[in-house]
Amino acid sequence: MKKLLLLIIPFGIFTSCNKPTDKSAENLAVQVQELKEKYRPGLGEYMMGIQLHHSKLWHAGINNNWKLADYEIGEIKESFDNIKAVETDRPEVKTISIIEPALAKLSDAIAQKDEKEFRKSYDLLTASCNNCHTTNHFEFNVIITPTAPPVNNQDFTAKP
Ligand code: HEC
Repeated sequence: MKKLLLLIIPFGIFTSCNKPTDKSAENLAVQVQELKEKYRPGLGEYMMGIQLHHSKLWHAGINNNWKLADYEIGEIKESFDNIKAVETDRPEVKTISIIEPALAKLSDAIAQKDEKEFRKSYDLLTASCNNCHTTNHFEFNVIITPTAPPVNNQDFTAKP
């Protein structure tokens, strides 16, 4: 009898898991949605990540560390792509293309390993960050060219 129960119980669990009722599927969908909302980074959190990459990008570029500069600009682009995909309920995201020309110019300068062009395009990038902030009434978030490295546990110089 015990053996029979051991066989029947897992079978019962298996079939009930396999065929969720409409109600339980619905509950699951609601739960997934709630979790997505709860653990989704806000726009301000994405921006703080971008702020750090913006600063690291500067120190990589002025050290002619083009591999690191390429990595940092990649991270910035990825963050903006994520914002576009995730922050669909934020109206500010409609103006995100403000940043695109500057990112394209900087990518070119990095690919050309051209420090002079890098510095010029970096100014354009920073101006574009502020342009978007002003357009969206967040003009009090003023971005500048960094005056010191953002962290002291990373070496920004290029290695041969
Ligand atoms: C879509 C236009 C847009 C662009 C482009 C943009 N931002 Fe923002 N940024 C915002 C908005 C909107 C906020 C306010 C977010 C919030 O609700 O907290 C913000 C906030 C910030 C903050 C404040 C975050 C905090 O909580 O302390 C920083 C820092 C920041 N942005 C950095 C940057 C940098 C650096 C760039 C350029 C590389 C940039 N942003 C480009 C729209 C933009």
